[in-house]
Amino acid sequence: MNETEYVTYLQLIQTSINDELSAVVLYKRIAESLTGPGAPVIAKELREHADDEYRHFKLLLEFCSHYGILQEMSVELESEANLDVSSSTETLIAKVQSLELEAISTYKKLLNMSKQYSVVEGCKLFLQILTEEQEHYDDLAFFDGKTRSLPLIKDTTEKQQSVASLIAQI
Ligand SMILES: [Fe+2]
Ligand SMILES: [Fe+2]
Repeated sequence: MNETEYVTYLQLIQTSINDELSAVVLYKRIAESLTGPGAPVIAKELREHADDEYRHFKLLLEFCSHYGILQEMSVELESEANLDVSSSTETLIAKVQSLELEAISTYKKLLNMSKQYSVVEGCKLFLQILTEEQEHYDDLAFFDGKTRSLPLIKDTTEKQQSVASLIAQI
């Protein structure tokens, strides 16, 4: 990894640290604000996602500590954490989906760089988080305007297809 690539790698990790923490706050705020018949189901899902994001945040800090780069990192809440959560459920879900897509894109870059430069712990960590972010996105796809009031049904084949098409788009 040359110096420019190293800086890029650190910046991507820094972005992820702040994005994960901001997602924890935002998802919990959205979960509290939702109204309507589908609200309890969606809120439960978002709280579970928030717990996952907090675990990702801690895993990233552990990764930085392992490689001696923790002192290079700062921890800041981003403006997204303060998003107006009085918007419609559809708008909020769309926003969360866009954040998940951003996370997927960032972790794909980190995974590719880790593979390229044989950062073994990075390969393991970023693949694990990437997989979970894809699951988050896929879970949210079931909460669009048409399916939100229905029981949450996850057909395995349909889920696999939507994840595969998502990965193909990135
Ligand atoms: Fe995450
Ligand atoms: Fe996520």
